[in-house]
Amino acid sequence: MAPNTEGEAPHNNFDTILVLDFGSQTSHLILRRLRSLGVFAELLPCTTKIAELTWKPKGIVFSGGPASVYDEGSPHVDPAVFDLNVPILGICYGCQEIAWRIDSKNVARGEAREYGHADVNVTKVNSHVDRLFAGLGDSVAAFMSHFDKLISLPKGFVVIAATKNSEFAGIAHEEKPIFGVQFHPELEHTPCGTDLLRNFSVDICGAKPNWKMGDFVQLEIARIRELVGDRALVLGACSGGVDSTVGAALMREAIGDRFKAILIDNGCMRLNECDEVKETLGKHLGINLTVVDAEDLFLSRLEGVSDPEKKRKIIGSTFIDLFEKEAIRIEKEAENTPNSGKVEWFLQGTLYPDVIESLSFRGPSATIKTHHNVGGLPERMMNGQGLRLIEPLRLLFKDEVRAIGRQLGIHESLVNRHPFPGPGIAIRILGDVTKERVDIARKADHIFISMIKEAGLYDEISQAFAGLDTSRSVGVFGDQRVWGYIIILRAVRTKDFMSAEVFNFDNAFLQEISRKICNEVDGVSRVVYDLTSKPPGTIELE
Ligand code: XMP
Repeated sequence: MAPNTEGEAPHNNFDTILVLDFGSQTSHLILRRLRSLGVFAELLPCTTKIAELTWKPKGIVFSGGPASVYDEGSPHVDPAVFDLNVPILGICYGCQEIAWRIDSKNVARGEAREYGHADVNVTKVNSHVDRLFAGLGDSVAAFMSHFDKLISLPKGFVVIAATKNSEFAGIAHEEKPIFGVQFHPELEHTPCGTDLLRNFSVDICGAKPNWKMGDFVQLEIARIRELVGDRALVLGACSGGVDSTVGAALMREAIGDRFKAILIDNGCMRLNECDEVKETLGKHLGINLTVVDAEDLFLSRLEGVSDPEKKRKIIGSTFIDLFEKEAIRIEKEAENTPNSGKVEWFLQGTLYPDVIESLSFRGPSATIKTHHNVGGLPERMMNGQGLRLIEPLRLLFKDEVRAIGRQLGIHESLVNRHPFPGPGIAIRILGDVTKERVDIARKADHIFISMIKEAGLYDEISQAFAGLDTSRSVGVFGDQRVWGYIIILRAVRTKDFMSAEVFNFDNAFLQEISRKICNEVDGVSRVVYDLTSKPPGTIELE
């Protein structure tokens, strides 16, 4: 019989708000805001069939979206959502969807796009509808981004807020707990947004704000035990990053030594990284990490390859080859020991942003980089080896993973570590990868990160690294002409890694870094600082 792990799912243990996604770029922020209030929230596509939901949400938010409700082919909710009799809040497109369902003539193209700050005047009605803006004052600052607008009030609704350009910036049903706002409470530019979402989720929906990491950890450990059973072995790749370390710590807690951690050294890791990760996992978490030295294999397969996607694919498939080999080795080694069993599971540190990307109404967006974890293992590993994926972090955002890490006693320096991509330095070298180039980039990176740490800036930066441009430039060192590589320094600040801004270093500090790299790393003739935000640039160079 299949294990009943759905029982431990957060939506069965915490009051949950369902966010139906109409494709807005900011839908995930609605979840972030709700969860920051302690209210658990999950996202599903707007086209979800309500009859197929296995759990009952305490309330539903319709997100914004780029389409026009009245256009053919535009996304619409399953009308059964209104029969659930739970409170509904429509945001922007979501608000128009509510109005359009009542009468398609309620929504029309506006004369001008309303984008940016707006003062929203709250209208008191002296009925239940006042609850959405309760305690927020008579006027709130909000962020608007819409072209279409409500041109008449849907039947049965009253106005609860208006702006200079939008007569119906906030609406509510006279009797039922159905609300709509034209602005975006999930954005930081709407300062009272979190309070409005609290009014909706806690006061109107009655959701208990008790989403706590401690409870989640216990439920997840129970879920892992149930899934894995008491014989199977789990293979997990640990990179030393916070996601894989937290995943490994949960597995270790759940199934002890039946969790087998390996680190595959692809030859593109940071300076001393493999030794440090092995020591940290062993010392602090009691995890015996096996380091597989595969530098030669990876570098030989990467020889002469400069296309970023090809590099990623080669590295990805080489990892898989080695995981397969390791699974067989581990099973053999476990034979005739108390932990004998089959490797049936593969731990993957998938996070919620990847899951959202695959669930979003937009569907998986055009592949910019093949690095999203969702999608699973290759057929040959699932069918051949019989491996299945276990993803204990798939409902969590990065800062939630960090919170769990702290709770599990993982050292702060590891919890706050900047992310490092699976393909490592290989995608920080613009051009084909050689050992010499990796060594140069690695040394420059070490100098850059050490100086950032010494200056006390590490925690202010979300991600920093040094990459290498394989075009060369001429330099003069003493009396010598040097034709060396260009080192590209990159440092960004971001909350969600979906967009990012460049970190502003003091110029003199950058010059000091440049001097040290040129002096201490042979083969470098020039150092530049990347001033590109994301978008248009991505965080990694490739
Ligand atoms: P980009 O470059 O897409 O990066 O702006 C966003 C975040 O994802 C990380 N990243 C990767 N992680 N494999 C990974 O495991 C990859 O191929 C990969 N590419 C980018 C990147 O470091 C940043 O944190």
